[in-house]
Amino acid sequence: MQQKGFTLWFTGMSGAGKTTLAQRLYEELKHKRGLKVELLDGDVVRTNLSKGLGFSKEDRDTNIRRIGFVCNLLTRNDVIAIASAISPYEEVREEVRQMIGPDKFVLVYVKAPLEVLIERDVKGLYKKALAGEIKNFTGISDPYEEPQNPDVVVHSDKEEVEESVAKILAHLKERGLIE
Ligand code: ADX
Repeated sequence: MQQKGFTLWFTGMSGAGKTTLAQRLYEELKHKRGLKVELLDGDVVRTNLSKGLGFSKEDRDTNIRRIGFVCNLLTRNDVIAIASAISPYEEVREEVRQMIGPDKFVLVYVKAPLEVLIERDVKGLYKKALAGEIKNFTGISDPYEEPQNPDVVVHSDKEEVEESVAKILAHLKERGLIE
């Protein structure tokens, strides 16, 4: 079967586990199955494609539209695009879904309670945000709009990473996007 292009989009708050899952899916699809895959990670994109953008709603929307634009180019050329960015706003997430085509877009909501994220605080950013040292921090002083229509919800505080990976792969199979 010829490879089908699609976009696997991870949304969720900082520290929820988007990057971990995105990297696992990348590994699984690219290295284990030999498919063509590209990974667009928010933290990396912000050092090149979106360099100079901040965290206002306008800048975040621009960041998401840029990532979505690249995902669309890849998807229509039968490459699998994996995106991982907080993408806190429903409207622009749905705009990207429509641009790529709903049949080729998979939204994964990586969910964990805020208390757990504050407790984990891998990058130490929640501590700074709570102290007021970082303004407009998602979940603390900036909104995170939960997806109204996620294709998959992953509870990263309750599931093992491999459990979540299996859940996502099962969804991709069910949709006929992978074998
Ligand atoms: S998005 O809102 O535009 O989708 P993106 O995923 O690219 O965000 O970047 C989020 C990352 O930037 C976080 O994981 C964190 O490391 C860092 N960051 C710095 N400032 C903020 C902030 N005010 N809100 C959220 N994340 C921030």
